[in-house]
Amino acid sequence: MNMENLTILDHPLIQHKLSILRDKHTGAKQFRELVGEIATLMCYEATRDLPLEDVEVETPITRTVCKQISGKKLAIVPILRAGLGMVDGIYQLVPSVKVGHIGLYRDPETLQPVEYYCKLPSDIKDREVIILDPMLATGGSAAAAIDFIRKRTDRSIKFMAIIAAPEGVKKIHEKHPDVHIYCAAMDEKLNDHGYIVPGLGDAGDRIFGTK
Ligand code: PRP
Ligand code: URA
Repeated sequence: MNMENLTILDHPLIQHKLSILRDKHTGAKQFRELVGEIATLMCYEATRDLPLEDVEVETPITRTVCKQISGKKLAIVPILRAGLGMVDGIYQLVPSVKVGHIGLYRDPETLQPVEYYCKLPSDIKDREVIILDPMLATGGSAAAAIDFIRKRTDRSIKFMAIIAAPEGVKKIHEKHPDVHIYCAAMDEKLNDHGYIVPGLGDAGDRIFGTK
């Protein structure tokens, strides 16, 4: 596995929150809150290389030159539905971020992604993009979303998942070696239904209470 394009964010706070997320007894309200909180903590690292520029500031003591993030050139793209659960967590740190949406679901028989919605910021080609989805399983949904966005921008694309499976990471590294993956945990494997083991079950259902 190419660790150059993979960052596992195993900060103690993230690990602790992830353990509660995995617990099948955790209800939808707490699940949603935790997904948001983990996304905030992950965002802190995934935005580490945002470009800075000088800004002059007058403190109560003197004038000084310090740093600000240059331009407003970031977009996040949650994959519907479960990626929506991560959006508020990113807004907490980057309130001006633009948000695109890609609707994909996995066909339960073939596990192939089916696209049903897409709306991206009109200036997507000028923005760095972070795609959000709590689960990177076979990698089919992630690869489809990256394909779609790559056709519309030459700039950096990152993928942020909470739990990744080795199969999904391998697929993205093979098909999109330029995409850096951030996850909070690398789990063991997929089961026969394409679910991550041990995982947390169906993220969309647990966020929206649909099962
Ligand atoms: C889940 C998850 C990912 C996808 C991951 O979505 O949120 O988008 O599966 O699986 P993959 O890596 O094998 O493609 P799902 O298809 O269940 O749709 P939902 O979010 O609408 O529930
Ligand atoms: N999608 C989910 O929501 N969970 C999994 O374990 C795999 C795909």
